[in-house]
Amino acid sequence: MTNQYQSAQLRELDALHHLHPFTNHTSLRAGGARVIVRGDGPYIWDSEGARILDGMAGLWTCNVGYGRKELAQAAYDQMIELPFYNTFFKTTHPPVVALSRKLAELAPANLNQVLYGSSGSEANDAAIRLIRHYWALKGEPKRRIIISRKSAYHGSTIAAGSMGGMSHVHAHSYPVYEGFRHIIDPYWYGESEDGESPEDFGIRAARALEDEILAVGPENVAAFAGEPVQGAGGVKIAPESYWPEIQRIVDKYGILLLADEVITGFGRLGTWFGSQHYGIRPNLITFAKAATSGYLPLSGVIVDDKIANVLMAHDDDFHHGYTFAGHPVACAVALKNLEIMEQEKLIARVNEFTGPALAKMLAKFRDHPIVGEVRSVGLLGAIELVADKSTRRRFADPGRVGLICRDHFFREGFIMRAVFDTMVTAPPLIWTQAQFDEAGAVIQRALDHTLNDVAREIAA
Ligand SMILES: Cc1ncc(COP(=O)(O)O)c(C=O)c1O
Repeated sequence: MTNQYQSAQLRELDALHHLHPFTNHTSLRAGGARVIVRGDGPYIWDSEGARILDGMAGLWTCNVGYGRKELAQAAYDQMIELPFYNTFFKTTHPPVVALSRKLAELAPANLNQVLYGSSGSEANDAAIRLIRHYWALKGEPKRRIIISRKSAYHGSTIAAGSMGGMSHVHAHSYPVYEGFRHIIDPYWYGESEDGESPEDFGIRAARALEDEILAVGPENVAAFAGEPVQGAGGVKIAPESYWPEIQRIVDKYGILLLADEVITGFGRLGTWFGSQHYGIRPNLITFAKAATSGYLPLSGVIVDDKIANVLMAHDDDFHHGYTFAGHPVACAVALKNLEIMEQEKLIARVNEFTGPALAKMLAKFRDHPIVGEVRSVGLLGAIELVADKSTRRRFADPGRVGLICRDHFFREGFIMRAVFDTMVTAPPLIWTQAQFDEAGAVIQRALDHTLNDVAREIAA
């Protein structure tokens, strides 16, 4: 499927019949979609034969890289054995049992029960219902408010989109659901005041949670929800002081803590879950993406014993569930994926090699004229593009320069994503020094080209 004619035809048919997610449909149809046909290790290939280094692991997802025959084999074997059966009506099957046990082993000690779905959005919807159901069962049905952050992305269903804080997602929810509040992001580079240290800012950003709890009444608050590192919001990495203060506030008011680990789960921060990296003690963890490295859709919410015990003490149904919850083939692939991560010690490698290599590569761009800040934690990184380094002044029309830069990456056969004018990266966990060198060289050229394109807007 890679010759010219087929490639043009694919684009034409795609434009005729395929509505893409998070897309400007006018501009997609004007330019046509890029057709990706193959992947192997850290690379993907498009239908024109171009090889592309994938600095986004698919979409924060393909942690073990592309083309893993063991994962295909696991799916094949499970399809032959039992391609599908539901987990409603008191039935189960071996892959879902084995995966649940494995997840309970990997998650923080008191999180032992898993409720499954197929996407991060579904997992967060389930978590929202579970949180509110928990409080209702505890005799406190008024506790419904979930507090999250302004740049949080928790998914695209109306409930997960409402829990997320992005105004453009809210704008297309017609309307957002009630019962969600959004506080300041722990985003030192973008939100701190003149001279405020990251640690002081981290405390201030966390105390916004306490202010909000008091504003709405502690008796109405069900939970705080947060990604250990805000991914789609621009790889916003909280200062070290932030999470301990959040934990203190959550504990003080006895509300639940939901860690959305759809991006940070499965090794990205050098621990199985990002909560373990930061010492966060969540009551619920949502996961998706890298559970299967994206080879099949699978998500879930892992809940702690406190929540599970309340559910179990209540002799009635919890009226919630998805047909594909705990899909046997997806579970078999997830188990094999986790086995690969263990065998190849990919998580230890994030701490010992890939994480430091990413930090070192990004540090080279710190002095570039359009770079305001570089930052990373584990295998999540960001480069802030600014018009004035000294004042952190942004370019006019946010997002414009980010797209210029992203297009230079594309032309060079490299994928990094633009979140407005923040360039973000989440490489697969299998990168070697060769990929970091390749990425570093492309980023240098792309930043130089972008500088040329916007030279007149740069502070002298
Ligand atoms: C932190 C986080 N939560 C939830 C989601 C939603 O996941 P999905 O796209 O699988 O519904 C995403 C997607 O990127 C995410 O980054």
